[in-house]
Formats: sequence, C-alpha cells, structure tokens
Amino acid sequence: MPIEIQVVADADALAREAALVVTGVVAERPDAVVLAATGNTPIGCYAELARLRATGSLDTSRMRVAQLDEYVGLAADDARSLYGWMDRALLAPLGIGSERVVRMPVEGNDPQAAARAYDAAIEAIGGIDLAILGLGPNGHLGFNEPPASADAPTRVISLAPETLASNARYWGDGTVPERAITAGMSVILSARRVMLLVSGTPKAAILDRMLRSAPDAALPASHLRGHPDTILIADRDARPAGSLEA
Ligand code: F6R
Repeated sequence: MPIEIQVVADADALAREAALVVTGVVAERPDAVVLAATGNTPIGCYAELARLRATGSLDTSRMRVAQLDEYVGLAADDARSLYGWMDRALLAPLGIGSERVVRMPVEGNDPQAAARAYDAAIEAIGGIDLAILGLGPNGHLGFNEPPASADAPTRVISLAPETLASNARYWGDGTVPERAITAGMSVILSARRVMLLVSGTPKAAILDRMLRSAPDAALPASHLRGHPDTILIADRDARPAGSLEA
C-alpha cells in the first residue's frame, strides 16, 4: 500500500487532523496501544487530544501508551528525560497513569537486556495499534539513526551529530546525552497503523527525499513505504504545493 498523504494548511490543522486519527483508533479500540513520539511536532496533536478529552469527545480511560525512545544514563525521575516530557505533554493531560504505559527502561547496568525486555513487553500486550511519529532531520524515526534496517530491534544507539544538535534546544546549558534506547524499526513497522507527522520548512527537503526513496537503511523513514497502513500528515511548509506526490 502506498503511503496515504494528507497535506494541511498549517501546524494547527495538522494537530487537529492528527488528533482525529488518534480519536478514531481509540473509538474503535478503547484500550488501543499508542506508541508516542516526543519532540516538537506532536505537541499540538497532544494538546488537541487533551481538549477533546476535556469536552467529552475522547475517552482515554483505557488507552495505553508505549514510549518510543529514551536517553540512556538519566535517573528515572529526571524531568529532562523523554518520559518526563511525555508525562507532561501527553500522559498527565490524558489521565493515563504509569500502569498503562510501557516505559523504555533507562536505569540499570544492562541496557541491551532492558531493550529486549521492552520488545517482550510490547509483544505481551498484543503489539501497537498506532505509532505516532515525527521525522528526524536525518530521516530517523524514533532514534533509529541511519543506517537502520527494517528488522532492527529495540537497542542502544549513539545519537547522530545532527540529532544532538537538534536536541540541544531542549537542554539549555546542559549537555545532551549521547546515547539512547530506541524502539527498533522492527517494532515501529509492526504497528498496525502508523501516522507520521511532519511540520515546517526545515523538514521539507528530508520529507521529499523520503517520499522519493525506495525503502533504504540510509534513510530509516523510507521503510514506511513498505508498511501496509501509514498515513503522512504534513503541513504546507513541509510539503509545498508542486512537490511530487509519492
Ligand atoms: C522523539 C523522536 C524523534 C523526533 C524527531 C523529530 O521521541 O522519536 O524521532 O520525532 O527527531 O523531532 P521534532 O518533532 O522535535 O522535530
């Protein structure tokens, strides 16, 4: 199946359309497992989901969330962790307690074993119903930095220089951790539905490359072209009129 592409006017429209997709999945399956990206792109969608919940249009009382990626080496309660970010932006506003979250483990001295435990936990809850993803500046998904093959498992990775540069905005004066655990491409591609959100002019070139590329480890997001049910929602800045539709 080719990727379904929806181009919307701006970031606000993207947030609304993305929230509709999530609402649809949760309406169909109230205990849906949602794999949730952090970062700038999905913030509006998460805020819209909180609004829909507040107005009674979305019931999140059974919805489950799986963490997509996490820095290695932070304390579990470090507010700068991606879990901390996700808690503030998504879990707390949607009233999702930690008992309904598959958390990416970061503590302990065997992160590779922790990665395997994460894959086992995802399998044990029946897999992922919807993966909400952002597009990295180098085409990464989660922290699957290039090169990443379609069957890459959840694992510890070293962040690419461009990812470190991009993440620096969240760290103020602090040093961005250089290692992370990411849900593997194999986990992302096993999601029954994938929603890729892309916003803003800085993402236009990498999105265009992704849509022209055959599935290729050098551009991990291009693996979505082999996924059976992916929707891409991009705003006009990221997907200007006149760019080729894939
Ligand atoms: C974060 C993540 C990353 C981001 C990507 C885009 O959990 O998985 O892949 O989605 O780096 O980041 P933003 O949205 O900040 O441009």
